[in-house]
Amino acid sequence: MADHNIMQYTSTNDEQESALQNKYMDEAAFYVDALSKQLGRKPLCCVTTFGCQMNARDSEKLLGILTRIGYLPTEKEEEADFVIYNTCTVRDNANQRVYGRLGFLNSLKRKKPHLKIALCGCMMQEKSVIEKIWQSYRFVDLIFGTHNIFKFAQLLVTMFENQEMIIDIWQETDQIVEELPVSRKYPYKSGINIMFGCNNFCSYCIVPYVRGRERSRDPKEIIREIERLVADGVVEVMLLGQNVNSYGKNLKEPITFAQLLQEVEQIDGLKRIRFMTSHPKDLSDELIDVMKHSTKICRHLHLPVQAGSDRILQAMNRRYTKEQYLSLVEKIKTAMPDIAITTDIIVGFPGETLEDVEETIDVVRKVQYDNAFTFIYSKRTGTPAAAMENQVPEEIVREGFDKLLKVVQDTARERAALLQGKVMEALVEEVNEQDDSLLTGRLSNNMLVHFPAGDIQIGQLVMVSLDTCHGFYYTGHVVDKKLSEAQLRDSLRELEKTQQFPIK
Ligand code: 5AD
Ligand code: SF4
Repeated sequence: MADHNIMQYTSTNDEQESALQNKYMDEAAFYVDALSKQLGRKPLCCVTTFGCQMNARDSEKLLGILTRIGYLPTEKEEEADFVIYNTCTVRDNANQRVYGRLGFLNSLKRKKPHLKIALCGCMMQEKSVIEKIWQSYRFVDLIFGTHNIFKFAQLLVTMFENQEMIIDIWQETDQIVEELPVSRKYPYKSGINIMFGCNNFCSYCIVPYVRGRERSRDPKEIIREIERLVADGVVEVMLLGQNVNSYGKNLKEPITFAQLLQEVEQIDGLKRIRFMTSHPKDLSDELIDVMKHSTKICRHLHLPVQAGSDRILQAMNRRYTKEQYLSLVEKIKTAMPDIAITTDIIVGFPGETLEDVEETIDVVRKVQYDNAFTFIYSKRTGTPAAAMENQVPEEIVREGFDKLLKVVQDTARERAALLQGKVMEALVEEVNEQDDSLLTGRLSNNMLVHFPAGDIQIGQLVMVSLDTCHGFYYTGHVVDKKLSEAQLRDSLRELEKTQQFPIK
C-alpha cells in the first residue's frame, strides 16, 4: 500500500476536537456546493447500515454530518452521489454481503464517475479486509474504522482534495467526542451510546478486537443528550453498549448502570427506557431492583445465553454456568413476572456435540424465551475459537440448529399466546407497511401490535387490546385510557400466574 494514502490524524482534547470537526464541515460544504452547481441539483447521499444497533446509531451520526454539509438523504443507492457502507464483521455472511454489493457500486461508478464511495465500521478494522479492498476494489474513495468516526468531516475534506483512495484506520482511541450533528431515523425514539467497546473477549467474538476496550461516556453528557432528545420529541430511548452492565466502572467517578438508569428515569417527558446488551455475568441485584420499581424501564431484557452446556460455556469464556444463568433468570422473573426475556444463541462452536445442543434446548424450555436470535457459529480470524482444532462439521451444526430453532419458535409462540386478550400500552411507531389503514405499535415487552389508525398519531402511547395473536405479533384495537388502566392491572395479575417456579 502507498503510505501517503494512509492518514493518521493526531488527537486533540475532545472539546477542541468537536470545534475542529465543525470547521471541517464548513470546508466540506464548499465541495458539496461545487458539486451541487455542477449537477444542477442538490447531491444525494445514501448511508447503508450492516449489523447491530450500535452501527445504526453510528450511521445516524454519519448522516448528520452528510446532511450538515449539504447532501440530501436517499435510501436508493443507485440514485446517490455519495454511498457509505457502515459494515459489520461479527459473522462472515455480513462481510460477504459487503463484497457482493461492492461489485454493484463499481458498475454504478462506471456510469457515474463523480460517485464517491466510502466504507467504515467494524469490518474495516481487519487488516485482511483492507488488503483485499486495496487489491480488488480500487474504486473505493475513503475507508475508515470504528475509532475515528468522529473524524468523518475531516476525512471527507481529505477525500474531496485527493483522487486516490484514502485509508485511515486507528487501532484504539480513548476519545469520546460529543457535540457532533446526528440525523435521527425516528422522531419519537432514539438510541444513545452509553459506552463503547468490550472487555469480555468471549472466545468466538471479534468485537473486542474491532471496537477496542470498554469506555463509558460521562453520565452528565448522557443525561444532557437525552434531555435534548426529549425536548425534540423523543419519548423512548435505548441505551446502547456491548455490555451495559459494566457501565461506569472505569469512570473517574465510578457509577453503576443501575444508578445511571435511576438518573435517566428522572427526566421529565421521557416515557420509556430500553437498553442492550446485558452480559449475564454482570447483571446485578441492584439492576433488578431498579427495573422492578421503575415505571419507565420496559419489561424486556435481552440476556444472551449463547449456549447451555457448561463445557461449551467455559470454552466460550462466558464466565457463567447453565445453573447460574437459570438462577439469574429465576431471580429476574420472580421480581418481574411480566418481563419478556430474549436471547442470542450460537450453534456449532468448536467441539459442540448434539448432546451439548440438547443442553441449550433445555435452557430454552426452562427460560421460555419470548424471542431468541439463533446463529450458526462463524469462524473469525484472530479469535481464540478460530484456532481451536475441533471445528464442527456442517451437517452436525445444521442438525442441531434446526432442532433448536423449532423449540425456540414453539416456545416464543406459546409465550406470545399468553398475552392474547390482554390490554397493554403501545408506542405507535409507524403506518403498517401492508395496510395503511393500520398503525403498528411496540409493546413494552418489544412485541408488535397492528391496529386501526383512527385519529392516533405516530409517537403517541396508547392502550391496545391484543385481540388476536398471530405467532410473533398481534392485531388489536385501541381502548379508552381510563378503562384500560384497570384492565392493564388485571392483565398483569393474570400474567403473573403464568410464571412457573422454580424454573430449574
Ligand atoms: N459466530 C456466530 N455468532 C456470533 N456472535 C458473535 N460472534 C459470533 C460468531 N463468531 C453472536 C452472539 C452475539 C451476537 C451479537 O452475535 O450470539 O450475542
Ligand atoms: Fe462479543 Fe462477548 Fe463482548 Fe458480546 S460480551 S461483544 S459476545 S466479546
